[in-house]
Amino acid sequence: MRLLNVADARAEAQRRLPKIFFDYIDGGAASEATMRANEADFACYELEQRALSGITAPRLGTTFLGQKQALPFMLGPVGFLGLYARDGEIQAARAAAKAGIGFCLSSFSLASITRLARQVQAQPMFQLYMLKDRSLALDMMGAARGAGVETLFLTVDCAITGIRERDARNGFRALTRLTPSLALKLLERPGWCWDMLRQGRPQVEALAGRKAFGRNLLAQAAALSARIDPALSWKDLDWVRTQWPGRIVLKGIMHPEDAHWARETGMDGITVSNHGGRQLDGASSTISRLAEIVAAAGGIEVTIDGGFRRGADILKAIALGASGVMLGRAAAFALAADGERGVSTIIAALAREIEVAMVLMGCPDIDTLRAEGPRFLKVK
Ligand SMILES: Cc1cc2nc3c(=O)[nH]c(=O)nc-3n(C[C@H](O)[C@H](O)[C@H](O)COP(=O)(O)O)c2cc1C
Repeated sequence: MRLLNVADARAEAQRRLPKIFFDYIDGGAASEATMRANEADFACYELEQRALSGITAPRLGTTFLGQKQALPFMLGPVGFLGLYARDGEIQAARAAAKAGIGFCLSSFSLASITRLARQVQAQPMFQLYMLKDRSLALDMMGAARGAGVETLFLTVDCAITGIRERDARNGFRALTRLTPSLALKLLERPGWCWDMLRQGRPQVEALAGRKAFGRNLLAQAAALSARIDPALSWKDLDWVRTQWPGRIVLKGIMHPEDAHWARETGMDGITVSNHGGRQLDGASSTISRLAEIVAAAGGIEVTIDGGFRRGADILKAIALGASGVMLGRAAAFALAADGERGVSTIIAALAREIEVAMVLMGCPDIDTLRAEGPRFLKVK
């Protein structure tokens, strides 16, 4: 297996993973139009090719979310990484740490933030869904603080779960235990089964020992999902602000007015995100809204995700004013394809694409690209 790019990783992930999990990663909401638009709309922007710039070694490092990053992207929160490869969260975080880029742990993770911090020599970030049970939310925030987390992503685009037809067909949402028919489907992927068996009984470690959540991964995930607060509103952010002393980033902002409100309510940053087209089908692609959202954000930090599969996509987002990009499926596929090595390979491939592009664009470094974006980008 040779992974040259994200498409290769996706194909290999499809080969290795049981269909129910591949579809969970790969799918989007309803007609999947927004999911497709996320990828397709990068074509609306073109990088300027410049001759004879003399630039031979562009600098790919930058700083965002208070961390020095060796590359202008990091690994964003993706649930259940530990189901795509054994100890998936740890493997992905290790690959990120080795590449000198950030990693954000989803609250829907098998590995706890505490174990992650112990096993990976890098400061992690943590993503939280606000829960109706605020004391549980506080416990999760407390564990994250204890693990040295500085940046909390509060995901705000999941008041209700999007309609995902692939998951409905596969019975993904109804999973609460391992049934015989599910076991048969999983056995179609013996390599994956063997990998999983070696990690023992899968659990959401952060919920282990809490009786109300059950004792197996599927029951725990369903119970956690049911506790997401659908009524979360701007006024609740004051409470989050008082409880979290570090940086708070609202993840899932798609409108300039919401970016404005994020700043007004004391948030430190936002992530322009439509959850990878998994929530509101028919919403805009993220890249097409980035520039106006950056303008409305009034100087707070703007990161973005959604459809990033190539180095050129990342450069376009930086030129449009993002301080950094977060990978979703690209990293999940790489992990499923070949574990930590797969993630490292894909990070390196994107880095190389970025480097080659910057030479051909005559762009000396990422900070220049952000500061002088229009010089490097043509809107079609
Ligand atoms: C399988 C999967 C699970 C995800 N789980 C979470 C999650 O637990 N928390 C969260 O904030 N976002 C989650 N997301 C959304 C990603 O953080 C990100 O917004 C999205 O994947 C970006 O689009 P891309 O996958 O096209 O890059 C998930 C996405 C996928 C594909």
